[in-house]
Amino acid sequence: MKIAVLPGDGIGTEIVAEAVKVLNVLGLPMEMETALVGGAAYEAHGHPLPESTLKLAKEADAVLFGAVGDWKYDTLDRPLRPEQAILGLRKNLGLFANFRPAICYDQLVGASSLKPELISGLDILIIRELTGDIYFGQPRGRRIATDGHFPGAEEAFDTMRYSRPEIERIAHVAFQAARKRSKRLTSVDKANVLETFQFWKDVVSEVGLQYPDVELDHMYVDNAAMQLVKAPKRFDVVVTGNMFGDILSDEASMLTGSIGMLPSASLNSKNQGLYEPSHGSAPDIAGKGIANPLATILSAAMMLRFSLNQEASALRIEAAVQKVLAQGLRTADIYSEGTTRVSTREMGDAVVKAL
Ligand code: IPM
Ligand code: MG
Repeated sequence: MKIAVLPGDGIGTEIVAEAVKVLNVLGLPMEMETALVGGAAYEAHGHPLPESTLKLAKEADAVLFGAVGDWKYDTLDRPLRPEQAILGLRKNLGLFANFRPAICYDQLVGASSLKPELISGLDILIIRELTGDIYFGQPRGRRIATDGHFPGAEEAFDTMRYSRPEIERIAHVAFQAARKRSKRLTSVDKANVLETFQFWKDVVSEVGLQYPDVELDHMYVDNAAMQLVKAPKRFDVVVTGNMFGDILSDEASMLTGSIGMLPSASLNSKNQGLYEPSHGSAPDIAGKGIANPLATILSAAMMLRFSLNQEASALRIEAAVQKVLAQGLRTADIYSEGTTRVSTREMGDAVVKAL
């Protein structure tokens, strides 16, 4: 099993180190190779996604990714910004299916900003299309200057588009995921305003004819944003486009108390995948040893399950995480009175010990 380890920027290096530690105690035949990505790669090689890093990722069975980005790169020309590394990896590896579970752990109900009864037992799966939509629409309005602004320019534009095959394949992934859960799927669109999302809605409905056992409903994205905080448990599996999925998955993750707990998987049609925490690089707390490594550790579990065919090991890691939470160990983001505050490294060590 070949794993490309791409820690990236900010807290990325700290949290990925803990996940690697956890993977190493499983005793599986894994070959891990680390490479630079994002701002770190830009500093060293002048590009956020160097050829060598892309090659390593392409040749691996799975990529374990930390996070990229720092405000200090905000003035760089867009193709050189750290975020382009993750977008480039998604596009080049064809990682069109992004799974973002939002699960509320019993021990963390109090950490949510919502009332406990609204979120206890919450278990939503957001499936975000990841290689199309306005993120990758051609042509995109190009900047003229290199300082991150448009001096003298009067407009800028991006193009929202989806093709039938792009919608069909993500719809199939979503219906199949719903089939394995409660058999309910909500497709989120903006068909009342956007042609792209009328088309989305039509194609998802067509694909739905092949899944008569799954109950499909459609919801406008603004309403979905509202329902997520009003009655989140009405959702089970949600499928949506790249842009709406970006926004709704952040919203859903925070329902659970901490974005620091949530893993994600991005898969292509060969089940090759990139696994990363749902949160970002958090430059404000980087290097302080206080970041929560659990989202990355749980992402490693998803990697074992989806790309490496090691369900038993995935379950072991998930049980170990439950165990450390039950022991009352908390990083700063999920700390509450009566629990024990631990550092990033102590949390990783505790998971290793639980294993
Ligand atoms: C995410 C992030 C990325 C996105 C950024 C870093 C490019 O917000 O993975 O959700 O917008 O997709
Ligand atoms: Mg995002």
